[in-house]
Amino acid sequence: MPSQEPTNFTTLFSSQLSVFKEDGENIFTGHYIPERIWHRETEMKTLASFFRSIITESTSSSRKVVIYGPVGTGKTAISRRFGRDLIKYMRREWKYGKPLFKYFHINCRKTKTPHLILTTLLRQLVPGFPLRGFGVDELVRMFNLLLYEQNLVVLVVLDEIDYLLPEERTDFLYSLSRLEEAPSGREDLGQSNEKIEARFNLLLITRDENFRHYLDLSTASSLGQNYIFFKPYTRAQLYDIIYSRAEEGLKEESYDDDLIDLIASLAEENGDARFAIDLLWRAAKIADQENENHIKNEHVRNAIVTILPIEKSLLDDLNTHQKILLLSTAKLLQNEKKLFATTPEVKQSYIEICDEAGVRPRRQTQVWSYLRDLNKLGLIQLEVMNRHNQGRSMGRVTSIRISDIPVTEIINRLTPLNFRIEESVI
Ligand SMILES: Nc1ncnc2c1ncn2[C@@H]1O[C@H](COP(=O)(O)OP(=O)(O)OP(=O)(O)O)[C@@H](O)[C@H]1O
Ligand SMILES: [Mg+2]
Repeated sequence: MPSQEPTNFTTLFSSQLSVFKEDGENIFTGHYIPERIWHRETEMKTLASFFRSIITESTSSSRKVVIYGPVGTGKTAISRRFGRDLIKYMRREWKYGKPLFKYFHINCRKTKTPHLILTTLLRQLVPGFPLRGFGVDELVRMFNLLLYEQNLVVLVVLDEIDYLLPEERTDFLYSLSRLEEAPSGREDLGQSNEKIEARFNLLLITRDENFRHYLDLSTASSLGQNYIFFKPYTRAQLYDIIYSRAEEGLKEESYDDDLIDLIASLAEENGDARFAIDLLWRAAKIADQENENHIKNEHVRNAIVTILPIEKSLLDDLNTHQKILLLSTAKLLQNEKKLFATTPEVKQSYIEICDEAGVRPRRQTQVWSYLRDLNKLGLIQLEVMNRHNQGRSMGRVTSIRISDIPVTEIINRLTPLNFRIEESVI
């Protein structure tokens, strides 16, 4: 009998050809801050100029800035890079007698409530700070007090602020924007309230270009004109971004200019660097699976197909009414010339499809909440627009767009027949 070699599990990995450099896959993860941030010099300068007062200590009012722009445009990357550079600078320049600088980056998709955000911050300053027992206002007051007590200057980044519930978000941002005016209790520390120092600085990051419309007047005025817009990347910019990522993470012989250009052209439509990097990573993984030492265009095409099922499962998980609303929007947007639909149009189409499918339409408030869910999932994009007629304001209207998924794909997958069956099951 032929003797069979026992498989050594580790050799399964080590003998494998790979297009990645050693540890090169880390370069493609979301946490990685690239060596070089491309084509964002102006945005970086603007950010630095808004927050200059942190370094110069020249103002008594804290800085609040908003970065907004579509998905994958470098909002998170830039702010983390800015934070890292600022920490380095402060360590070098701020020595004796100066406050300590701290940077906190909080993702509101993961840290979903104002309460949790504040306790998370406080736990950074006071290890073991209790998770329960205090209200939001009390927590704000304590945080403010600790900034003085521990002699700190902080920059707090609230990333993906869209994920906070709108009602909570408004109040929370109001409290934060007034943080330095909050009764801090500094008298107890023998410090006078007269000299308000700029210890708390805030950077908000959102995808929503209408963010400012959701703020109350007072918060909006405290944010002033400090908005920075991040445009979608062009094809040439995406090319530079992915090329340098390939240089960092992939072996030199595994890719060439044409491959990078193909990926840039595929990502061009949305100008989304994350999509482009993800595509390169997936294509590289497929090349590895096929034991090839060069990533081919076909690997990229296969990689695209692996991205699509994520969207498909997203569609499958929607409830009947969310599906009908998405379908209504997709049908309206089938017309190539129509860039967006308005809420009354979608509502009308929704009622018609419900009738067709024998489903009872939901009330206006419920419809709204479903549209917001679809917006959060990134399936549609809601946007508040001001309407004008011959220079006169006609009030606001919400536009609904679908920017990522082919509308025909949505229509083919969501047919009224399915709803009827599902409704009877529910
Ligand atoms: N200018 C750039 N140079 C190099 N890499 C970039 C650049 N812009 C973005 N990236 C990379 O692209 C990916 C997506 O960027 P980032 O996470 O900053 O996008 P975002 O605007 O925060 O998107 P979202 O709205 O989805 O949070 C990250 O891996 C980031 O490192
Ligand atoms: Mg981000």
